[in-house]
Amino acid sequence: MRFIQVGVGGFGTVWGRVLRENRDAQVVGLADVSDDALRKACEAGGYGSDICFKSLKDALRKVKADAVVLSTPPAFHRQDVVAAMKAGLDVICEKPMADSLAACKAMLKAALETGRTCVVSQNYRYAPPMWTLAAAMRSGELGAIGQAKLDFFMGVDFHGGFRHAMPYPVIVDMSIHHFDLIRFVTGLDAVGVSGAAWNPPWSNYKGDCSSTALFEMNNGARILYNASWCAKGAFCDWNANWQVECEKGTVTYRQGEIRVHRVPGLYKIEKTEVLPHTALPLTGQHYVLDEFMRCVKERRRPSTAVQDNIRSVAMVFAAVKALRSGRKTEVLDKGTLALLERARGGGGAGN
Ligand SMILES: NC(=O)c1ccc[n+]([C@@H]2O[C@H](COP(=O)([O-])OP(=O)(O)OC[C@H]3O[C@@H](n4cnc5c(N)ncnc54)[C@H](O)[C@@H]3O)[C@@H](O)[C@H]2O)c1
Repeated sequence: MRFIQVGVGGFGTVWGRVLRENRDAQVVGLADVSDDALRKACEAGGYGSDICFKSLKDALRKVKADAVVLSTPPAFHRQDVVAAMKAGLDVICEKPMADSLAACKAMLKAALETGRTCVVSQNYRYAPPMWTLAAAMRSGELGAIGQAKLDFFMGVDFHGGFRHAMPYPVIVDMSIHHFDLIRFVTGLDAVGVSGAAWNPPWSNYKGDCSSTALFEMNNGARILYNASWCAKGAFCDWNANWQVECEKGTVTYRQGEIRVHRVPGLYKIEKTEVLPHTALPLTGQHYVLDEFMRCVKERRRPSTAVQDNIRSVAMVFAAVKALRSGRKTEVLDKGTLALLERARGGGGAGN
């Protein structure tokens, strides 16, 4: 499959490597606003400057390609994702889908109208610990989920940059990974959210860096999400700490360890076991790329296509609204629900 890579600096260097390492992928164009980023990408991949462009628009005029990998800042996702699909190309877009719900809806609408595949790269799903946790939850062995808690506590200094200046830095920049994992692990969708945010006195972030969000899920379960990037010790890893409580027991995740407490009766633990991680042949972006190519070929919809991912990214925008207003907020608005209805009725790829 012939790819144009858009946004080749920063995290785009990871994608450059992933594309080079895949035998079925061929890079036929590079687009970036930065000459320096283009020069470095050419050096890394051994490409000539003839495949370098200052924008996707230029690249689309000059090269024949099948797909785009987009790794630009979120504010630029909508323009290029929509342009690529309208030009007949399929797209892999870095998370988050876009920087506003309106932009995400425009991207979903374009996918439905063009029938092209657009997948959002949610790489946290495709690592052994979260894959194993999801399999344990979805096996149904522990019965229905009643409540869960995620604690994401880290002390992270980005030494300046946009994260230190933005409102709700963790929720806006990081939590899409956790909110998408919540859906992946539990198989549930969020319907409502309420929450609060604040900034501890020692925080070196301008926006409220600590927050709590309480999600109401579509089976009535509640999921409490606590997060901070200015925590003072007792840190978790990037997946967060998890406790998922079900009819027949509880599953916890801490620093790579998945523990299952089997409680078939009311409150008596019958057995506790540590689950070994399932090995995956492909992880992270390698998995995303491979699944994307297979799905495009077979006209199937990838697991994190925009038709699905809108439900994860909407949790972020709804949480921000809830934090701002202090009120409980619905996760999906009428416009998004109407688009999802269209998607169910046969819009977009892989139906
Ligand atoms: N999945 C992950 O774990 C992960 C990690 C880091 C970043 N990301 C995501 O990757 C994306 C890029 O983040 P980043 O940190 O690399 O950003 P960045 O600011 O470093 O930009 C990446 C590249 O895009 C280029 N660029 C900017 N605007 C452009 C435009 N309009 N057209 C073409 N090129 C443009 C920049 O010159 C740069 O080379 C974001 O969506 C971010 O959230 C994902």
